[in-house]
Amino acid sequence: MRIYDIIAKKRDGFELTDEEIAFFVKGSVDGTIKDYQITALLMAIYLKGMTDRETVALTIKMAESGDMLDLSGIDGVTADKHSTGGVGDKTTLIVTPIVASLGIKVAKMSGRGLGHTGGTIDKLEAIEGFDTALSPARFIENVKKHGICVVGQTGNLAPADKIFYALRDATATVGCMPLIASSIMSKKLAAGSECIVLDVKYGSGAFMKTAEDAEALSKMMVDIGTKAGRKVAAVISDMDTPLGFGIGNSLEIKEAVEVLKGENVSDLKEVCLTLAANIIKLAEGTTIEDARTKVETALSSGAAYEKFKEFIASQGGSIEQIENTELLPSAEFKSEVLSPYDGYICRMNAEKIGSASVILGAGREKKEDKIDFGAGIVLHKKTGDFCKKGESLATLYTNKADTLKSAEKCFLEAISFGEDEPNRNELIYKVV
Ligand code: URA
Repeated sequence: MRIYDIIAKKRDGFELTDEEIAFFVKGSVDGTIKDYQITALLMAIYLKGMTDRETVALTIKMAESGDMLDLSGIDGVTADKHSTGGVGDKTTLIVTPIVASLGIKVAKMSGRGLGHTGGTIDKLEAIEGFDTALSPARFIENVKKHGICVVGQTGNLAPADKIFYALRDATATVGCMPLIASSIMSKKLAAGSECIVLDVKYGSGAFMKTAEDAEALSKMMVDIGTKAGRKVAAVISDMDTPLGFGIGNSLEIKEAVEVLKGENVSDLKEVCLTLAANIIKLAEGTTIEDARTKVETALSSGAAYEKFKEFIASQGGSIEQIENTELLPSAEFKSEVLSPYDGYICRMNAEKIGSASVILGAGREKKEDKIDFGAGIVLHKKTGDFCKKGESLATLYTNKADTLKSAEKCFLEAISFGEDEPNRNELIYKVV
């Protein structure tokens, strides 16, 4: 078999066999297939697509390209969730302790921020002492003992995805549905959980700009997971407007704690309850109504908040900072963004708002940049709200005063005003 022939076959629009896909993944990881050949095939896939069978075969081979976590020693049902990425998306911090407090075992590997989107590992590292790099043995031990553990991805989990993702990022081949689906699902399959709930975002802050594309991606990922023997569901949720009010690491921990303590009722809480209920439904085979009642009780009884504190302490994090979130890393400088008009907010471009938070220091512009945990944005108005000229739309926080002006400019460019109350995207579009 020659990679040259496989590239030519896909270039001409033909379907690859399972053996050809296996040959491509193996050769990419062992170095016998060169970067330029991998890139050529990825571009051919981008242009010609893949059938469902090819996408499933590619995902399974990518998952098997490195370590496959064995969670069979853990008693009870294991569950994982994954968000396709967004702005202000702190759902993992809320959903995982809710379901863990109900006895589901959460063994989760999370990522760092990518571009304008935040990452759970960066958020957790805002908490003093929190260790996101536990050994595999400690990871399993924590899941057994506390029912929950969240760490960064280990070195050898789906290495084929690491290679493909870096090349896609540099060659304009990220936005391709079979490649996104195989990238996400290969990591989820390798991470080992039996139940997987995907939070697929749509809108300006998401990879999928329309609900229809998000639905097609969801169906593809659910199909892959099911064929690989896992229980999978996808919740399609709005990311046209940032989720909740806080954007930035300490600010998002603070908001997650408010939801867990029952002090915050917002779009964020609704998305979290929907995700948690879908995990319980998959794990326990109950109706969605019963699952919803259970997760609401876990939140309102304080059980989820207590589980969150246990989880933070079990990975070395400071409980003082959770009980008093004013002790989390903060920002020396702040400024208000004032509304330039009287009118409704018709749209907020979530991607641009995410970029404004990166300018303030909440994310990385370059891979090696250090995050300013105290930096970020607190929104006071969201899409559909009316505001008066001079009223505060948001507060910007940073430890680098010279970023405030350009972040404010970027933030204001993200907002569209109008005289009429706009229609908002549906918060939960569909569950697949
Ligand atoms: N997230 C991933 O892990 N992979 C993609 O291709 C896109 C989003």
